[in-house]
Amino acid sequence: MRDVLVSEHVIEAGYNLCGIGACLSLIKRNIAGKILIMLKNLEYRGYDSAGIAVITPENTLDLRKGVGKIDDLKNKLHFDQMVGFVGIGHTRWATHGGVTEENAHPHTDCDGRIVVVHNGIIENYLEIRKELETRGHKFRSDTDTEIVPHLIEEFIKRGNDFYEAFKNAVKKLKGAYALAVVSTYEPNKILFARVFSPLVIGLGTDEYYIASDIPAFLEWTNKVIILEDGDIGYVSQGGVLIENVFLNRRVHRDVTTIPWTKEMAKKGGFPHFMLKEIFEQPQSVSRTILMARKQIDRFLDYLEKAEEVYIVAAGTSYYASLHGQYAFAKYGLRSRAVVASEFIEEVGGFIGNKDLVIGVSQSGETADTLLALRYAKKKGAKVVAITNVIGSAITRISDYSIIMGAGPEIGVAATKTFTAQVAVLNYALIKWAEMHGYDMDDVKRVFLNNIGEKISNVLEKANSLAKKLSEWMVPKSNAYYLGRGLGLPIALEGALKMKEIAYIHAEGYPAGESKHGPIALIEKDFPVISIVLNDHLQEKMLIAIEEMKSRGAYIISVCEEGMKKIQEKSDFIFEIPSGFSNILAPLVYIIPLQLLAYYTAVKRGCDPDKPRNLAKSVTVE
Ligand code: M6R
Repeated sequence: MRDVLVSEHVIEAGYNLCGIGACLSLIKRNIAGKILIMLKNLEYRGYDSAGIAVITPENTLDLRKGVGKIDDLKNKLHFDQMVGFVGIGHTRWATHGGVTEENAHPHTDCDGRIVVVHNGIIENYLEIRKELETRGHKFRSDTDTEIVPHLIEEFIKRGNDFYEAFKNAVKKLKGAYALAVVSTYEPNKILFARVFSPLVIGLGTDEYYIASDIPAFLEWTNKVIILEDGDIGYVSQGGVLIENVFLNRRVHRDVTTIPWTKEMAKKGGFPHFMLKEIFEQPQSVSRTILMARKQIDRFLDYLEKAEEVYIVAAGTSYYASLHGQYAFAKYGLRSRAVVASEFIEEVGGFIGNKDLVIGVSQSGETADTLLALRYAKKKGAKVVAITNVIGSAITRISDYSIIMGAGPEIGVAATKTFTAQVAVLNYALIKWAEMHGYDMDDVKRVFLNNIGEKISNVLEKANSLAKKLSEWMVPKSNAYYLGRGLGLPIALEGALKMKEIAYIHAEGYPAGESKHGPIALIEKDFPVISIVLNDHLQEKMLIAIEEMKSRGAYIISVCEEGMKKIQEKSDFIFEIPSGFSNILAPLVYIIPLQLLAYYTAVKRGCDPDKPRNLAKSVTVE
């Protein structure tokens, strides 16, 4: 198995949008309905077509697939009438070949005995396809995936058994992929392989599940094996067999009990996951703080010993990291937040073995962040991860990992994982500052005792205001989000939320910089959202607001109650209770901005859970 082919840039896998859901019953129970539920649970990843294949009790293949939403396909193809004890399902997001029934997964070999679902991109599929065609294989789709069942078929014809043939087929693939395969040759097995595309195994009662993501099967089990890159194997009556193609030997993978419940992965009465996740923040932040208590000491040890501290992340996680940098700086702890994709060029030359690099990633699978961390490790730096996903790739390359307690975040836009990241960084800072003689009692009192209640209060007040303001935002094409100091990362994150789900061009900017160019765009009723903390920068924020207002901008301020001067200059106000103009600010100030983006998106007819062109984990460089 040594010669598995992996491209130089192994993470050129495409977005992980497709979803895999497979199930094997050990007691001959029909699993078709469960595969359908798994696909529904994976809908949040986005898809344009879907399909299910089961091996029937008569050992034939029943395969149904088509273009469109799962519910429509269910009515048309009657997925619920399928019968089988083993099967695979897939939600496809087209990469190779158009959105057609033929290109939808699962795909089969010539004889319709081997059936495959796949997530990722097989880079060398064209050359393999040509070779197989010269050997007489007939292809029905334009996908890269279809070479896999044909390759397996080819090796079976040459005398391999089903699993051997699969291993030999995988050896020929170049790129990144997660695969699940069943066959009438051995109908009591699901074969799987993971190379740089996530895949997990769920251990149920008399059942195995294989899926792209844990929420797919969370309603039946929270006992999970998280496969690692290069893992290949199968589930069967005999248990789980896993080998690793890079190590070229059999491997053991722990069974992890995930502390998530099935309710956590459901909408729970909310119209969208995003809104549910925004409203979960009182609990998710409190839970994260509780979990951080048990994990923080080793992190402090690394912080203490580090010569330089870098915080590396992408997107929302970067803004949480930037908050970390600003907050740490207030207490004399020097750090630098760096956008992961710029890390090597920006600071790579300075990294050494006395440094600490903190990787922040909710998914733990972001290619840019992983590459930056691998680079830092190579240079001898210590690496600590802050992530929401136990067993994710980031935890495997880090010296130490802190797992947040945000629970599964299904909406593509990060909300509760942002506040959880801020909570972990704040907790580390509070402990570090105390160790260095700072009095943190006031901050601690709120943070440790009643942060959940405070977030709830803000949610309650801001919800109806955000709904109202969103009506006004709907026709807008642009917005500025301005902040200074600890208010800046909040402004940047608020703008990202508006941009990614409501598709309004929103720019986060340091308020002081806004007069150096951005102000040129201001005209009547241009939305300017100002994040004003009750600190020494308040007067300066007031100046920026006046500059904007005098040119016609419509000022929306998120500020503390009682900030009279700011409120007088504002056209719309979101009030935050006092006591938050410090490192805790993002935990409450971000709430109105998340809600505003959400309601604006919905009123503009956008689906906030599945914004166009975006994926929950971005595994491309
Ligand atoms: O999983 P990560 O936290 O590493 O993801 C980083 C970004 O891709 C992510 O934050 C992205 O910006 C989200 N769409 C933000 O809502």
